[in-house]
Amino acid sequence: MSKPENTLIRGISELVTNAGDPPGRFAALTDAALVIADGRVAWTGPAARAPATDVVVDAGGRAVLPGFADSHAHLVFAGERSAEFAARMAGRPYRAGGILVTVEATRAAPDGALRANLRRLAAEMLRQGTTTFECKSGYGLTVPDEARGLALAAEVTSEVTYLGAHVVPPEFAADPDGYVDLVCGPMLDACAPSARWVDVFCEDGAFGADEAAAVLAAGRAAGLGARVHANQLGPGPGVRVAAEAGAASADHCTFLTDADVDALTSTPVVATLLPGAEFGTRQSFPDARRLLDAGATVALATDCNPGSSFTSSVPFCIALAVREMRMTTEEAVWAATAGGARALRRTDIGHLGVGARADLILLDAPSHAYLAYRPGVPQIAAVWQAGRLVAGSAP
Ligand code: NIG
Ligand code: FE
Repeated sequence: MSKPENTLIRGISELVTNAGDPPGRFAALTDAALVIADGRVAWTGPAARAPATDVVVDAGGRAVLPGFADSHAHLVFAGERSAEFAARMAGRPYRAGGILVTVEATRAAPDGALRANLRRLAAEMLRQGTTTFECKSGYGLTVPDEARGLALAAEVTSEVTYLGAHVVPPEFAADPDGYVDLVCGPMLDACAPSARWVDVFCEDGAFGADEAAAVLAAGRAAGLGARVHANQLGPGPGVRVAAEAGAASADHCTFLTDADVDALTSTPVVATLLPGAEFGTRQSFPDARRLLDAGATVALATDCNPGSSFTSSVPFCIALAVREMRMTTEEAVWAATAGGARALRRTDIGHLGVGARADLILLDAPSHAYLAYRPGVPQIAAVWQAGRLVAGSAP
């Protein structure tokens, strides 16, 4: 039997490891090298001390980062809403009701069309450095349509989220409690086998605190971890509900009271910020500085969906976070890698410590700061997933 190959990447100007001391912070080495063996990081350190390996790749003075962990995306859908976006840019407000336009198109779409759109977006993410992504249902809102959405999502990721509680569909407009019963009962039974997470849109026009708590409790009883769409369009109970439910993450966090910030700093709930949604809805950006200065754990994700945030680009979100949300370049890159991993309760990704999955990005730039310094410029030269080159080309 031949020995498995190991690969040395040398000539790395900046190696972002997120594996320094203290933990939970951005950490990087300069003039570094990294060894991949069996799909994992086997060694990192100064280039001068790199061990001998079967294969050698020269990064040529460029930066290497952990692959992005995009912990919030809605990729199972049909149709598009560019006219709604254009109307918003002309001054109209964002309303949760737009979700139903996508629900109608998604229900009408054959499996093949949903699968093709999903795979196109997943491939788009990979080319932009995202090596792990979460994917929600939520545009089906019937038992078979939600189950179908989750089965399709499970074809492309292990981070699958049941979002039957996205909005109340029109056929239940007169009986929203009946819809919550469906979400917590037969729909959950059909969906739980394909999902790891349960999510609820806790917002005026979607689900209130009691309904959201009921959905999360039912999901947890079925073995799912909890996450919440919280405080996106206005102040509300979402963050509190997330904290009480022991959720992994409260997502959006755009309108927070001091009590919400306290809840995020005194519990392990990650505050996942989604600046693509503020960009796409012309809302004010969330106050990342307030959260970071208070000691909350912050993640950055795309919220890729056809309504509020039709971007699959984590680099775009990093640039927005740095320019518009006063995050440092280090904080933004940490939030999009290790922060996303925390929001998914994963320890094997989001960092390049020894033993981590060898998910990495070769940047066509000397440092991570270029992700924000050169916004809109494609700079992802190559992407490895579990040690395998999956996008771009190795030098
Ligand atoms: O995260 N907030 C709820 N869901 C999505 C929007 C979905 C849509 O507009 O289609 C979000 O922004
Ligand atoms: Fe969302």
